[in-house]
Amino acid sequence: MSSSPSSLSSFGPNPRAEAPAAGPAPAHPLICYRGVNKSFGSKVVLQDIDLEVYAGETLVILGRSGSGKTVMTSMLVGLNQPDSGSITVGAQEIREFQSDKDWRDLRLQTGYLFQGSALYDSMTVGENVAFPMVQHTPWSQEEIARRVHEKLSQVGLAETEAMEPSELSGGMLRRAALARSLALDPQIIIYDEPTAGLDPITGDEIGNLISRLQKTLKVTSIVVTHDLRLTALVADRLTLLYQGHMVFLGTYEEFLQSSHPEVRRFLHDPLEEKPE
Ligand SMILES: Nc1ncnc2c1ncn2[C@@H]1O[C@H](COP(=O)(O)OP(=O)(O)OP(=O)(O)O)[C@@H](O)[C@H]1O
Ligand SMILES: [Mg+2]
Repeated sequence: MSSSPSSLSSFGPNPRAEAPAAGPAPAHPLICYRGVNKSFGSKVVLQDIDLEVYAGETLVILGRSGSGKTVMTSMLVGLNQPDSGSITVGAQEIREFQSDKDWRDLRLQTGYLFQGSALYDSMTVGENVAFPMVQHTPWSQEEIARRVHEKLSQVGLAETEAMEPSELSGGMLRRAALARSLALDPQIIIYDEPTAGLDPITGDEIGNLISRLQKTLKVTSIVVTHDLRLTALVADRLTLLYQGHMVFLGTYEEFLQSSHPEVRRFLHDPLEEKPE
């Protein structure tokens, strides 16, 4: 039997999935940040953030180390709470969540590829991918085995199911972690620095995979990175975080043309360490 976890609620229509062949679908916001603020002690990390992420798009969040990219995305799975403002996912205002169940239901619909995400060393690659299904679904062993194979095939790792994580290359490990994030058929995938530490060719493979998954699975993706090469490959739109603010929002082509001083600095040297 193949079914989604029973607790999943619908986010409503995905315009990209339902778009007629001719002409682009109208933008339909799936995730909305409104006036979001976040500080840690006296350190202001996010200030008055307003952002809509459209259903079916890939939105890239760029910014230097410490600019708040992980804090911003981790709010979507409850790992950080905003101090003020509103965040909605579909029809749900996450600041009004009352119970662990509310968060659990949202997390089941959200694949989160954590920064530096690692597989469990004590499990095979296949067992790693099966883990969320064993934890969160009533699916039979046969169903889980079928899905493990499907998810590993989607990331081009069908042959690695019985291998130990220690036998995989850095790029393969990243793809296996992505297969695990896909385990529960999420509608949203958050990638935190998916190419960090990878050489440019392996990074391009990951970028192409992100694009392919977006097109085939019709997911909504948020990609956190400072990798411009990846951004050029995957971004429908991108934003740049700087000193707590979104100083740019638009397409990659518009980013290249922007005269904002921080955009120019970032394009010149995305890794430059600057005090935030
Ligand atoms: N739990 C926490 N307690 C205190 N400060 C925190 C906490 N989490 C994040 N911060 C601070 O918030 C700021 C933003 O952190 P964040 O992890 O979002 O940066 P980032 O843009 O993801 O950086 P990187 O590219 O290095 O991953 C940093 O100054 C960080 O030290
Ligand atoms: Mg980070």
